[in-house]
Amino acid sequence: MVSPFRFGFFTNFGADEWNGTFSNGGSPWTGEFHVEIAKALERAAFDFIFFDDNLLVPETYGNSMDAYLRLSATAPKHDPAPLASLIGASTKDIGVVITLSTLAYPPYMLARLCATLDHICRGRFGWNIVTSTEHGAAQNFGLDQLPLRVDRYEVAEEYMDLVGQLFRSWEPDAVVLDREKGIYADASKVHAINFAGKHFKSRGPLNTVPSPQGRPAYFQAGASPVGRAFAAKYADAVIVSAKGPAGMKAFRDDVRAKVAAAGRDPDSVKVFFLLAPVLGATTSEARAKHDRLRSSPFILERTLAFTSSISNIDFAQFDLDKPLPTLTTEGGSGTLEKIIQQSGGQGSDKTLRELAKIGMGNSVDLVGTPDEVADEMVAIAEHVGGDGFLFTSPSQQVSRHYITELTEGLAPALQKRGLMRSASTPGTLRHKLQA
Ligand SMILES: Cc1cc2nc3c(=O)[nH]c(=O)nc-3n(C[C@H](O)[C@H](O)[C@H](O)COP(=O)(O)O)c2cc1C
Repeated sequence: MVSPFRFGFFTNFGADEWNGTFSNGGSPWTGEFHVEIAKALERAAFDFIFFDDNLLVPETYGNSMDAYLRLSATAPKHDPAPLASLIGASTKDIGVVITLSTLAYPPYMLARLCATLDHICRGRFGWNIVTSTEHGAAQNFGLDQLPLRVDRYEVAEEYMDLVGQLFRSWEPDAVVLDREKGIYADASKVHAINFAGKHFKSRGPLNTVPSPQGRPAYFQAGASPVGRAFAAKYADAVIVSAKGPAGMKAFRDDVRAKVAAAGRDPDSVKVFFLLAPVLGATTSEARAKHDRLRSSPFILERTLAFTSSISNIDFAQFDLDKPLPTLTTEGGSGTLEKIIQQSGGQGSDKTLRELAKIGMGNSVDLVGTPDEVADEMVAIAEHVGGDGFLFTSPSQQVSRHYITELTEGLAPALQKRGLMRSASTPGTLRHKLQA
């Protein structure tokens, strides 16, 4: 029997599925919708809910904000940090991971925010470390354009060093709470760090009490060689949209080798593969749904708009019915590769329309009843060897209906096969990842 994988759900604090057949949403801005989802996932023994984030209203696609706002693609997107607080306070077991960009937050503010959220989430908080991928985001933070990837990661390395020192600036037993002597915290156990690097300077210490995990669980999604090397050095979990079971295995083997080369135990870093299963009560119902999603002009344009934003390449300039020219990006290489190298890579005969239809979020196409999909996932798990799956909605937007398909359909089928735990793993998010 296969050993249990870890499971997460990938979403964002954007518009929910406002235009789907089984949805009645569009305005989840009080946070209650996402709290409901988190509770449903928690009931089904998911390990964490994950929020991506971007810091702009893009205008890369067609040189306009139109598609982004018309299709609710990337924008609007609200701040996931207050939402994490609400979810953490409303749940007991599920981990809460949010994306915070090293481009946007001064390190001290980020460390303080993470420590605060880890307290509110009672040790279940995770930080998805990103350096941002869009010129538009960089322009919201005082830069003319996005720095080169290699420079962003160099800054991020120093950033991690600094926030790590801030997280450790209080010794674990610095809070004494001695009523008789009238001592809250012992000043001899709280230390300035006097950090002076190439990019940052910070005196410290942090003005927050050490959080249950000491630092949040670190997630990372870099796909380039430099991104993977960064993850190998810092991450507790890596998320990726890989190409088929062979691509999944190759990615995980590569990350594990890089983790070992960085002097860490390969088992200490868990790899999560993005999957967007299309589920139905019957095989033919699932296939019909899959065909509908693949032929949706809404999803096609959303995919192109999103990929344009994250790669800084305007995909509106290309003929949908011709193969793509050779493209490279300093933005999100994983996402660009996903669309241009899906089946055959650069120079393949696939047209842009065909590539975009294959979708962004899928490491492998899973279509069928919960039992059929669970069987396929067990086979993939056995081939790849570990560690986790991160589900996302194939419509690119979340509805209660889809969450129910996952939590009341697929999760029990996976649990029956031993691929998913039937009860939440107790403890901190880092512990859940390691267990
Ligand atoms: C599944 C996945 C999710 C990502 N989520 C975000 C995100 O929420 N915000 C963001 O700015 N970048 C996001 N990224 C981009 C990566 O974090 C990374 O910064 C980017 O891919 C550039 O690094 P790379 O060239 O090493 O891939 C995501 C990438 C992947 C593959």
